[in-house]
Amino acid sequence: MLYVKELTRQFGINTAVDRVSFQIDRPMMVGVIGRSGAGKSTLLRMLNRLTDASAGQILFEGQDILTLTGRARRAWQARCAMIFQQFNLVPRLDVVSNVLHGTLNRRSTLATVFNLFPAEDIHKAVGILDRLGIAEQAAKRAEALSGGQQQRVAIARALMQDPAIILADEPIASLDPMNAQVVMETLRRIHEEDGRTVVANLHTLDTARRYCDRVIGMRNGRIVFDGAPELLTAQAAREIYGAGADFSEAATSTEIETLERADKDYALSMMGP
Ligand SMILES: Nc1ncnc2c1ncn2[C@@H]1O[C@H](COP(=O)(O)OP(=O)(O)O)[C@@H](O)[C@H]1O
Ligand SMILES: [Mg+2]
Repeated sequence: MLYVKELTRQFGINTAVDRVSFQIDRPMMVGVIGRSGAGKSTLLRMLNRLTDASAGQILFEGQDILTLTGRARRAWQARCAMIFQQFNLVPRLDVVSNVLHGTLNRRSTLATVFNLFPAEDIHKAVGILDRLGIAEQAAKRAEALSGGQQQRVAIARALMQDPAIILADEPIASLDPMNAQVVMETLRRIHEEDGRTVVANLHTLDTARRYCDRVIGMRNGRIVFDGAPELLTAQAAREIYGAGADFSEAATSTEIETLERADKDYALSMMGP
């Protein structure tokens, strides 16, 4: 389905993403982890064609993504809708109109200028909001909603495009734990119920382990881990985040202790009854 080969992006002499290769051959939920600056956002932005690649290849269902231009490129951007840490909604615009902006790709300039939306699109938007549990907020301004609700509006806007892939760049980094959980559960549900692939950059290990079928660990632009969360041992986590003092990072330290315990449990279980 999605095939990425030797994907590379340089900024001057800095290689942000360095010959990254992976394949997604069935719908799944993938978590991308790594320290700040590891290249996670650049990777996602190249997949979506927001940032150009310096080298490499992306194929989706056989189509060469990196060579798309104009309308074809925009169509691809709708097929792999992106959501962001800061939601990127229009704050003073009502929720439904924000969601309807997910259809802008295929609307005329005139209709856009006058904020005219076809009735079927409005029904669809309200239906999606209802599915995500925020239909009552439809008429409110986006800025009046909580962060977790705003991120669900952003997800609804993405769903308006009926994407095959949802790319999420740190979707919960600005949310409190409860809202973070609701948003991750929403993404998980969309994956399971609709069969869409979700690729999410996540700033904590435990979120990736909890919600994802597969974890990709990046360090200095390279993939240093790619596998099921169960395979993400304390040692593998150290390789991703870097060993030693750096590892006392609050967001991940608790999880590392748990991992180390899990390693011990695993070792004990291997010793038999
Ligand atoms: N537009 C840009 N111009 C110059 N350097 C950039 C740009 N975007 C990212 N970088 C650099 O690329 C590297 C990877 O950044 P990024 O993909 O944002 O990492 P992450 O999302 O993992 O924190 C960093 O060294 C960053 O400074
Ligand atoms: Mg980033």
